[in-house]
Amino acid sequence: MKIAVIGTGYVGLVSGTCFSEFGHEVTCVDKDAKKIDALERGIMPIYEPGLDSMVGRNVDAGRLKFTTSLQEAMEGARAVFIAVGTPSRRGDGHADLQYVFAAVEEAAAYINDYTVVITKSTVPVGTGAEIKARLTTLLSPDLFDVASNPEFLREGAAIEDFMRPDRVVVGVDSDKAQVLLRELYRPLFLNETPVVFTNRETAEVIKYAANAFLATKISFINEMADLCELVGADVQQVARGIGLDNRIGSKFLHAGPGFGGSCFPKDTRALVSTADQYGLPLRIVRSVVEVNEERKRAMADKIIKACGGSVQGKKLALLGLTFKPNTDDMRESPSLDIIPALQKAGAVIHAHDPKGMEEAEKLLSNVTFHDDPYGTMKDADALVIVTEWNQFRALDLDRAKGLMKEAVLVDLRNIYAKAAPENHGFRYTGIGRGE
Ligand code: UDX
Repeated sequence: MKIAVIGTGYVGLVSGTCFSEFGHEVTCVDKDAKKIDALERGIMPIYEPGLDSMVGRNVDAGRLKFTTSLQEAMEGARAVFIAVGTPSRRGDGHADLQYVFAAVEEAAAYINDYTVVITKSTVPVGTGAEIKARLTTLLSPDLFDVASNPEFLREGAAIEDFMRPDRVVVGVDSDKAQVLLRELYRPLFLNETPVVFTNRETAEVIKYAANAFLATKISFINEMADLCELVGADVQQVARGIGLDNRIGSKFLHAGPGFGGSCFPKDTRALVSTADQYGLPLRIVRSVVEVNEERKRAMADKIIKACGGSVQGKKLALLGLTFKPNTDDMRESPSLDIIPALQKAGAVIHAHDPKGMEEAEKLLSNVTFHDDPYGTMKDADALVIVTEWNQFRALDLDRAKGLMKEAVLVDLRNIYAKAAPENHGFRYTGIGRGE
């Protein structure tokens, strides 16, 4: 099947590439000529494990193309995926849909045979209906259907998540569209992947509800971590102890510095804002957002406390800047709140991240970046692990201690068992590990 994917951000690029891997003929279109030019030369705009080789393989096979011409992408396409950005609108947190509607209306000009327009971008409930209403003014109703097919990709594991998903969710309002979507995902049907066919509104809500629920688990365990610190309990054991109950599940119960990234913060705010529009206060999700925002700021205080109550003039070595490992994505990363707060308290920041430094440099000021973890540590008063890259899980702690002025380790991801750094002479502070 011929497919057009509009928008070559995270979602569009990964989805388009994976659909070509399924054997479909995919053209990805983006207005950003530089990005398209780079993609044509095999240079990825994002770091995502396995993506470059999959792109290369499918480009070579002639199944995957990149272009800035919407007309070219739409030529013969029976499915059009809308994968443009839906940033948080300043002020009210509502998803900004101007790029979605612009993409749909521009694409409509090239629809002259039955085509399904599918939203992949995370869009508030009702957006599919609005797209349909707009297309109805431009096209004959037998020429199109509008479907919602939200993605659940995790950065850093996006290819795996696309090729072997827990489920696929498809919201449609016609049998014809359902048949086409079934054909698109045929390789997954053969794998017996559960596919939830439902109406558009339900699919749109599923996406937000899934992200909000996962974010709730994180804020919940983070609050439990704070309690554990006060009462002498260990949050990791608490997570294990509750997670073994199948009704709760063990995943997404890792306490840390708060969730970041391109989805959870934006989508939880947007969900609250959507419900507000209907006069419904979503109190749980609102609290999840608040707990998370406060948490990022509280992490700076935790570091200051571990340094004896002041970081004035102290040198801090920070490892990990991205919102999670295996990505270069800095969006809403806890480091973007923690570092300015530490600087305000007088700290001098030295940092290393395996993939995120180029992005971080644009967003942070007065930070000295180092190419390797040990470079950050010379004469440092404390070492702080902000993101749990694998490279930081087995640091040479004797070497670190030898380089540092003070042997203080603050581990915001609990990647060290308390005893190990303490045996090397470190004063160790983790998350939710009460004395
Ligand atoms: C998330 C969803 O997992 C995905 O389904 C959706 O499509 C997009 O949003 P992503 O943002 O890539 O994916 O990252 P994820 O691995 O889910 O982590 C999100 C944030 O939560 C990170 O900041 C991570 O550090 C944090 N997190 C996650 C925790 O603090 N504790 C956990 O137990 C899990």
